[in-house]
Amino acid sequence: MHHESHILHRQLRGNYPVAVSAQGCWITDAAGNKYLDASGGAAVSCLGHGHPDVLAAMHAQIDRVTYAHTSFFSTGVAEQLADTLIASAPSSAGHRTSHVYLVSGGSEAMEAALKLARQYFVEKGEPQRARFIARRNSYHGNTLGALAVGGNQWRRRQFAPLLIDVEHVAPTYAYRDQRDGESPAQYSERLARELADTVERIGGENVIAFVAETVGGATSGALTPPPGYFKRVREICDRHGMLLILDEVMCGMGRTGTLHACQQEAITPDLMAIAKGLGGGYQPVGAVLIGAKVVDAIGAGSGFFQHGHTYLGHPMACAAALAVQRVLTRDNLVERCAQQGAQLGVRLSEAFREHPHVGDVRGRGLFQAIELVSDRGSKQPFDPALKLHAKIKKAAMAAGLMCYPMGGTIDGVQGDHVLLAPPFIISDDELDLLVQRLNQAVDLAVRSVNG
Ligand SMILES: Cc1ncc(COP(=O)(O)O)c(C=O)c1O
Repeated sequence: MHHESHILHRQLRGNYPVAVSAQGCWITDAAGNKYLDASGGAAVSCLGHGHPDVLAAMHAQIDRVTYAHTSFFSTGVAEQLADTLIASAPSSAGHRTSHVYLVSGGSEAMEAALKLARQYFVEKGEPQRARFIARRNSYHGNTLGALAVGGNQWRRRQFAPLLIDVEHVAPTYAYRDQRDGESPAQYSERLARELADTVERIGGENVIAFVAETVGGATSGALTPPPGYFKRVREICDRHGMLLILDEVMCGMGRTGTLHACQQEAITPDLMAIAKGLGGGYQPVGAVLIGAKVVDAIGAGSGFFQHGHTYLGHPMACAAALAVQRVLTRDNLVERCAQQGAQLGVRLSEAFREHPHVGDVRGRGLFQAIELVSDRGSKQPFDPALKLHAKIKKAAMAAGLMCYPMGGTIDGVQGDHVLLAPPFIISDDELDLLVQRLNQAVDLAVRSVNG
C-alpha cells in the first residue's frame, strides 16, 4: 500500500502488495513482482486466474440479467447450475441428494445447513433436537453459527459468550493421535466410539447432526480420515436418526482428486456445504446440497425454509460457477487434480522426508500440507510465540510464492503447518518451482527462529 488505506485490512499493521493482474497460476503486484499461487488463495482458484471461458460466460450474463431477487424470480442460469450440481451430487441407497440452496460463500452455506437441519426436525415433530456435535481443530466459517460448530480454540475464544453450545469430539489426526501399535482400522473405531459415546451421553433424541470437514483444511492442514471412519460415522448418525452435515467448502469440488471428497469415503451426507472451488474465485458463491428427505419433510410441512439472503442464487455468481464446473468437466480437470496431486506428493516427500523440521506430509489430490516440528523424534512443535507460520508466509511471499501457513495446528495454539492447494492446471515445472521456493522459505524461517 502506497497511500493511507481506509480498508480495515486483516492485519491492521500489515502492509499488503497490491494485486494488479492474474493469469493461470500467477498473480502480479503493482511493483511487478510475480507470485506463484500455490494455495489458490485459500483453496479457491481451481482453474487458475483469468480463464477465458469463465470470463466469456460472465460477460454474456452481464448482458442478460445481473440481478433478480429470488422472492420474485428464478433465473435460467441458477436453474442450470442446480441441475448440474444435482446430476453430479453424491447419492447412495437411502441417501439421495435432490436440491441445492445457492448462497454467497462458505460460511453462509454452513449457516444454511445448520438451520435446514434444525428446521427439518421441527417439521418432523422432534423439536427437542437442539444439539450439534462437531470436531476439535475444525473450521466451518466465521459467522456465529459456523464459528460455534468450529473447533478451533483460538478463533472461538473471545467470541465464546456469543456461541451456541456445541459438543466437540476428536479430529482424524493420525500423525499425533494414532497410537503406537494401533492399526488405521482400530484408530477409526476408537474415533467412532468417541462419537457414539458422546451421542449416548447427550441422548440421541436430542442431537440434530454431526458436522465435519471430510478432509480437514485451514485450521489443521489437510487431515485425511482413516479408512472406514466415515462409514462408521454414517451408521451412528442413521442409528440415532441424526443428520450428517459434511463441510466440503475447502476440500470439495475436485480438490482432493474426486468431485466430492466424500466419494472416496463411499458415503452420502444429508447436507453438504460447498463453496470455494464451486466458483473458483470468479464470483462469491457457495451452496448446500440437500438430501431428498430434508426437502420432503419441509415440503410436506410448512413448505417454506425460514431463511434467506438478498443475494441468494445471484445470476452473476451462478454464471461464473456454471462456467467453472463446465470447464472442469470438459477438460477432465478433476482427474488432472488427482494426477498433479500425486506429482506434488512425490516432490514434497522428496524435499521434506528427511527434513529435520518437517514431521508430517499429508493430504489428498492438490490439497496437501506439511507440519513443522522443532524435533522430529518427539514431534515437539515450535514455541507458538515464535510465530513460525507467519515467518514462513513472509519468506514465501518474498520468494514469489503464495502458500497458506497457519499456527495452532494441534490445539488452536501449538503447532504450525503450511497448506498447499494450487490450481488444477498447475504444470510439472510449476510444481518443481513450488517445492523449491517452499523449501527455501521454510529453511529461511526456521533459521530465523532457531537463531
Ligand atoms: C471448511 C470450511 N468451511 C467454511 C469456510 C468458510 O467459508 P467462507 O470464508 O467462504 O465464508 C471455510 C473457509 O476457509 C472452510 O475452509
